[in-house]
Amino acid sequence: MKYENFSSKKLQICDFFCNFAPKMDNLYRQLYNWYAQNHRVLPWRETDDPYAIWLSEIILQQTRVAQGMDYYMRFLNRWPTVEALAAADEAEVLREWQGLGYYSRARNLHKAAKQITTFPRTFDELRALPGVGEYTAGAIASFAYNLPYPAMDGNVYRVVARLLDIDEAFDTSAGKKLFHKKIETLLDRDNPRLFNSAIMEFGALYCTPVLGDACASCPLQNMCMGYAHGTAEVLPVRKPRPKVRDRWFTYTIYTDGVHTLIQRRENPKDIWYHLYEFPCEESNELTNEGVNELMVSLTHVLSHQKLHARFIVRRIQKMPDIAGTIVIRWEDLNDYALSRLTLRALDTLRLIPQN
Ligand code: ADE
Repeated sequence: MKYENFSSKKLQICDFFCNFAPKMDNLYRQLYNWYAQNHRVLPWRETDDPYAIWLSEIILQQTRVAQGMDYYMRFLNRWPTVEALAAADEAEVLREWQGLGYYSRARNLHKAAKQITTFPRTFDELRALPGVGEYTAGAIASFAYNLPYPAMDGNVYRVVARLLDIDEAFDTSAGKKLFHKKIETLLDRDNPRLFNSAIMEFGALYCTPVLGDACASCPLQNMCMGYAHGTAEVLPVRKPRPKVRDRWFTYTIYTDGVHTLIQRRENPKDIWYHLYEFPCEESNELTNEGVNELMVSLTHVLSHQKLHARFIVRRIQKMPDIAGTIVIRWEDLNDYALSRLTLRALDTLRLIPQN
């Protein structure tokens, strides 16, 4: 049958897949074939150490492979076991995480390491760790132990939405439930590690958000409902994004040539909890303060916030006494975990400490 013939009369997903075992065999064969020829060799795929896999999954939660790789190697070198990580100070872990963003991942990683006596072996035990959600528990369970749980990351949602032509938003609780039901029917229970790796990689490398002409030579074309119905390009659907909040920060970089003042962010509900920064005033808009001094203005975009920041350099004889701040030697600034915004400002002002 020609695929165009499908478009007028939508096939029921279940007719097509769930009750049709040969189709599933075909899906697995095509997917695994593609994976064998195209997958990236990545260090966390070369191990079944659950600690290393857990670490990789936490790093990759909101980070691209290319950026996460160095962090993964550095963490594993410095803390090769969960016991070693548990023995570290939170400040060291945050410092090693510096630049990756979403610092609650590092805090939860460390908190979980301290809780673990023997590494969890079941999905439910993994799911109970701080920072481990449905996806991460499924990823560790399948990659480390080959247990039959799906691992639905953004790439997998996209592939599933297209394969089954699902136009329900995948990032609502109803949508998540629906997609989980569907992936349960697709999962290869005999080879969950391979299935999850392959479908994730297929989404990351082939079935990408912008398709171009990928569908024309797609190995899954003959079983893709999104292709048959001409909807693949616009799938998956997301719920409308929340409005971005603007914030205005004025930082003052005090220096007597040797020392500077920094403070730790202490609000657990706000951005950059427990990271260090220069003394900061938040206001409802930027004032003219500092415009005649050495300063830099930066805009910094986070997922839900747009920060309008100004960094003013004040050269002074004697460090002022500002509550909540500590005086440190400029050359020791590198020992503290700083936000990426602060690092950008130091870079722009060419003030990066050399040590
Ligand atoms: N993204 C999240 N987990 C991943 C993994 N195990 N391999 C590649 N990309 C990933």
